[in-house]
Amino acid sequence: MKDLNGRVAVVTGAGSGIGLAMANHFANEGMKLVLADVDAAALARAHDNLRASGATGIACRTDVSVESDVKALADAAYAQYGAVHVVCNNAGVATPALRTLAWETRLSDWDWIHKVNFMGVLYGVREFVPRMLAGGDEGHIVNTASVAGLISGGNPYFVSKHAVACFTEGLYKDLKELGAKVSASVLCPGLIRTSIVDAERNRPAEFGPATDIGALPANIRKMSENFRAALDAGFDPSVVAAAVVSGIQQDRFYIVPAQQHLLDVIALRMHDILEQRNPTLLPQPSLMPATATQGPRAS
Ligand SMILES: NC(=O)c1ccc[n+]([C@@H]2O[C@H](COP(=O)([O-])OP(=O)(O)OC[C@H]3O[C@@H](n4cnc5c(N)ncnc54)[C@H](O)[C@@H]3O)[C@@H](O)[C@H]2O)c1
Repeated sequence: MKDLNGRVAVVTGAGSGIGLAMANHFANEGMKLVLADVDAAALARAHDNLRASGATGIACRTDVSVESDVKALADAAYAQYGAVHVVCNNAGVATPALRTLAWETRLSDWDWIHKVNFMGVLYGVREFVPRMLAGGDEGHIVNTASVAGLISGGNPYFVSKHAVACFTEGLYKDLKELGAKVSASVLCPGLIRTSIVDAERNRPAEFGPATDIGALPANIRKMSENFRAALDAGFDPSVVAAAVVSGIQQDRFYIVPAQQHLLDVIALRMHDILEQRNPTLLPQPSLMPATATQGPRAS
């Protein structure tokens, strides 16, 4: 879809970080916006700023982990504009306990992260794609995964992002095989300066208490601090938003605005698989700049 001017974009997680930057970039392209976020105050701020800049848009408080909320979002978007052309299923969460042992992560963390990061994307696709296909216009779905969806890790964040990447590739193939005018991309950012490390600010009580950082083992606490520092030194979210705009315009499936050391980790994993060697051991979490140490080889 080359020309975004006058088209309608829906962005979840639009109150902060990457979602906010995408909404602003779409507005600069002349798009009408439907902003969604679970955080009502952040959503209201984003909406006010959007209108102050002269752009057109509505805001719809949405918890993407709740199917009826996502349906209400789609209903509101179509009621307001009669069509939707771009949907960014972007809302996502993580805990600061980046590297707990695979068998120790709290089940409530698995549940919360899976529901927001994967089910939120799934609900978005199920609600919007049929309506977009029926509308007959060109369209594009952008699902936010992460570099974490292309490399490995035994924690809920990585697993949820693998699910998003795999599902979105399937969605892309289904749309192309149908000859649809709607296409899809998976967005896999690297380290981006946002508030993701404080995502538990939006953790509902039903998914248990937020991580007690003070109770974490010292090494995990240290990793969490290092991760925060790495994000602070990361790309500005506007870099991601610009990559998304051009990715939609060029119908590029993989949109990977990521640091070179992360691209290297992706390549390493792909070679591990293709050469059937055992996974290369990296200092965890593998999202951080690191030197690889080779693990034992299968042969
Ligand atoms: N920051 C990074 O380095 C990075 C890297 C790769 C992928 N991502 C992904 O980018 C996406 C956006 O995250 P960000 O980094 O901008 O973080 P952020 O915390 O700055 O923004 C996330 C937004 O999502 C909202 N949100 C959280 N739970 C929600 C829910 N249940 N329903 C609706 N909205 C909800 C938050 O209120 C917030 O406004 C996430 O999917 C994240 O996993 C981030």
